[in-house]
Amino acid sequence: MVNIKKIRIALTKGRIEKEAVNIFQKAHIDCSEIMNKGRKLIFHNYKDNIDFVLVKAPDVLTYVEHGVVDIGIVGKDTLLEQNKNFYEVLDLGFGCCKFSLAGPRNSNFYSGYNRKKIATKYPNVARDYFRKLGQDVEIIKIEGSVELAPILGLADAIVDIVETGNTLKENGLVIYQDICNISARMVVNVASMKMKKSEIQTIIDKVQMQITAREKALS
Ligand code: PRP
Repeated sequence: MVNIKKIRIALTKGRIEKEAVNIFQKAHIDCSEIMNKGRKLIFHNYKDNIDFVLVKAPDVLTYVEHGVVDIGIVGKDTLLEQNKNFYEVLDLGFGCCKFSLAGPRNSNFYSGYNRKKIATKYPNVARDYFRKLGQDVEIIKIEGSVELAPILGLADAIVDIVETGNTLKENGLVIYQDICNISARMVVNVASMKMKKSEIQTIIDKVQMQITAREKALS
């Protein structure tokens, strides 16, 4: 019997998790246990010798970089924010949203000479965006509910994720500029890609087939 090496896959908890489970199920890589998970964080697929673990987005890359897991499913937002070492192998085509610069409807962000304050959960993304524009700004790191920052006067604008646009709208903010599109990605540990090439390529191929099938169905 061929010895299948164990593969460990980290899924980002929350929004991405459900779509990730969905695509693995369709690719006949069983992870149905996750759907009735309770508080459990690790799940075994004995047939394919795969473990699935559920972690927060930034931790997916930490586990992948350290080789504790072989594959990660995580948003491009996290990849852009964290300067980590990994292979990005698939755009999974779900979890689609964008990074935008946004602020109060009635203020002109581009007027005046004062150094603007930008609140964000993504300081590296924001810094990089303004560096490319040659604009000197002050970045203020916020952990969540970023839309509050300009309302309360902490910042002139925010760099944040926009999906439906409802959070901006309901808080009286508008997009000043879109920065880039985001979607969920599959990433692979650099050493695993060599050491477990066959097992990892099988998973990539199965998932890629589902992405192609979905794209065809939508076209
Ligand atoms: C994200 C993001 C926005 C919101 C955008 O926040 O930071 O606040 O979703 O989604 P929308 O365009 O569909 O309204 P999240 O829900 O992750 O919560 P947080 O503010 O606590 O980070």
